[in-house]
Amino acid sequence: MCGIIGYTGSGRREAVPILLQGLSRLEYRGYDSAGVAITLGEGRGIVTRKLAGRVTALRELMDRLPAHGGSGIAHTRWATHGAPHTRNAHPHSDCHERIAIVHNGIIENAETLRAALAGSGHQFTSETDTEVLAHLIEQTPGDTLEARVIAALEHVVGTYGLAAIAADEPGKIVVARRGSPVLLGIGDGEYFVASDASAVLEHTRAVVYLDDGDIAVLTPTSYQVLDREARVQRRSLNDLQWDLEAIELGGHAHFMQKEILEQPETIRSTLRGRLMGDGSVARLNGLNLTPADCADVRRIDIVACGTSWHAGLVGRHIIEELADIPVSVEYASEFRYRRRPRPSGKPGTRLTIAISQSGETADTLEAMRAARAAGSRVVGIVNVVGSTIAREADGGIYLHAGPEIGVASTKAFTSQIVALTLLGGYLGAHRGQSLDSKKADELVCSLTELPGLVSQALALEPEVQAIARQYSDAHHAMYLGRGVNFPVALEGALKLKEISYIHAEGYPAAEMKHGPIALIDEHMPVVFVAPHDEVYPKVVSNMHEVRARGGRILAITTEGNGDLSGGGLVDHQLRVPRTIPILSPILTVIPLQLLAYHTALLRGCDVDRPRNLAKSVTVE
Ligand code: G6P
Repeated sequence: MCGIIGYTGSGRREAVPILLQGLSRLEYRGYDSAGVAITLGEGRGIVTRKLAGRVTALRELMDRLPAHGGSGIAHTRWATHGAPHTRNAHPHSDCHERIAIVHNGIIENAETLRAALAGSGHQFTSETDTEVLAHLIEQTPGDTLEARVIAALEHVVGTYGLAAIAADEPGKIVVARRGSPVLLGIGDGEYFVASDASAVLEHTRAVVYLDDGDIAVLTPTSYQVLDREARVQRRSLNDLQWDLEAIELGGHAHFMQKEILEQPETIRSTLRGRLMGDGSVARLNGLNLTPADCADVRRIDIVACGTSWHAGLVGRHIIEELADIPVSVEYASEFRYRRRPRPSGKPGTRLTIAISQSGETADTLEAMRAARAAGSRVVGIVNVVGSTIAREADGGIYLHAGPEIGVASTKAFTSQIVALTLLGGYLGAHRGQSLDSKKADELVCSLTELPGLVSQALALEPEVQAIARQYSDAHHAMYLGRGVNFPVALEGALKLKEISYIHAEGYPAAEMKHGPIALIDEHMPVVFVAPHDEVYPKVVSNMHEVRARGGRILAITTEGNGDLSGGGLVDHQLRVPRTIPILSPILTVIPLQLLAYHTALLRGCDVDRPRNLAKSVTVE
């Protein structure tokens, strides 16, 4: 998704290197174009440099055509309105290049505004909705840039996180937020604006998260947050907890590799300080659910997108087993537009869990808001501290997995399952009958052992790499699993298609007979997720069905499960350590993450920046 970085300082530092470095930090979000605009100082105007392509290309352009100044704005664009092309890259300007603007989000009435502005003589050079904003601000009278931005936004329908500069007010950056995240970085004699904390982390840890409707004014010596009536607002200063090393490769070839290998530590971090050995499973202070609230819950809806949705599907099994509460799991994008009957009985009997690594996914946020409007209590399972979902939820569980930079989510998935287990255990323990103290203590034991077991699963990497060599030329792949491991089949298939561009489908193993079996032949690798659990013998029967049709099989099983390759049933068998069945997805997914990673490498794909994908989807 698009990324924003802006900088203004009292002249000690040049803006361009800071902005380019900030753009590099935002690259992981996914983008196709990049650009910078700098105010040159008293009356000398604004210089804009932009192109369709990578930040490295923009850096080369700036080396050839330097621009010097102490403040400016920059952007990485992920195309929505208009193709990835230099003319559509941000920053965008008004007719006289006196205003420059960068923008995340979508202006829904852009075409109407464009027609009206064109009618008044404005000339457009791009197809973007953002350029419309630049002309709209140009057209709007006002004494200051902030007054003009506030007045212009009165006419705008849609979402935005934006930063604007004006040639007549050098050193000033005006920021506005509605629906797209923006934060301010507060430095020592310098100020930043960014769509993502990673862009400012090396300069400051002090950040102010803007709320929807906020306008911020940064100058080299001050910052102020205003409302739409230009009244000053108080916003708290937050301390970023992430270290700089967390957003750097630290000797790894890719962020995805680093994040896969980090999982023993990230799972430990999700568990840290939370496990209780007194039968209550977990201490979850941020959840804001009293034992009485837990007892009242009659139904749970999980809403999420992508990998987080897969974690939600695993979570359904876990919560239903531990807490004995019916759970539905829905794509947030579908949930938000579905009519939901209001629950009967007293408020709070319905609980909605929004799962999101970034805490900014537009559909998940809106689904959470829709659930609340329909009378549900909402909690978030979120990684990014201070993100919108985390702030808007009634309570929640932070993953504490550290920044996830690789576009293909890995460590967030395993930590999400851990957090859902803590939640299921907490609900179960506080509801009396569903989880007795013996079972609670067994669960705590299994969770404590997990990081060590994940390390053992990661030791399969050389075997996985060898298998990847045999399958990397495939055009299609099928992933099959059952029960709590069906979502792992979906996740394995998603990982493969996201980064290696091999078409892959995940299916419930028993459902294969109702259609996908028609696809099986010697060219179709089939990955079975078949750990030790009650459906294992049935999944083995499904393997026979595939084998009988010539399919090539990779089975992910558990240590202690029978030998499948000796009798020729499967081509490859990988064994992960044994744990309780509800936690097995955390182990079975590890070889699938590694398989996708090594397959993508062998195919020469850009693992951390897969084509067309964005790390955090902040538009509908
Ligand atoms: C995008 C990312 C996925 C992620 C999904 C949900 O599609 O590429 O990796 O799973 O968004 O993101 P969230 O931040 O809400 O978990």
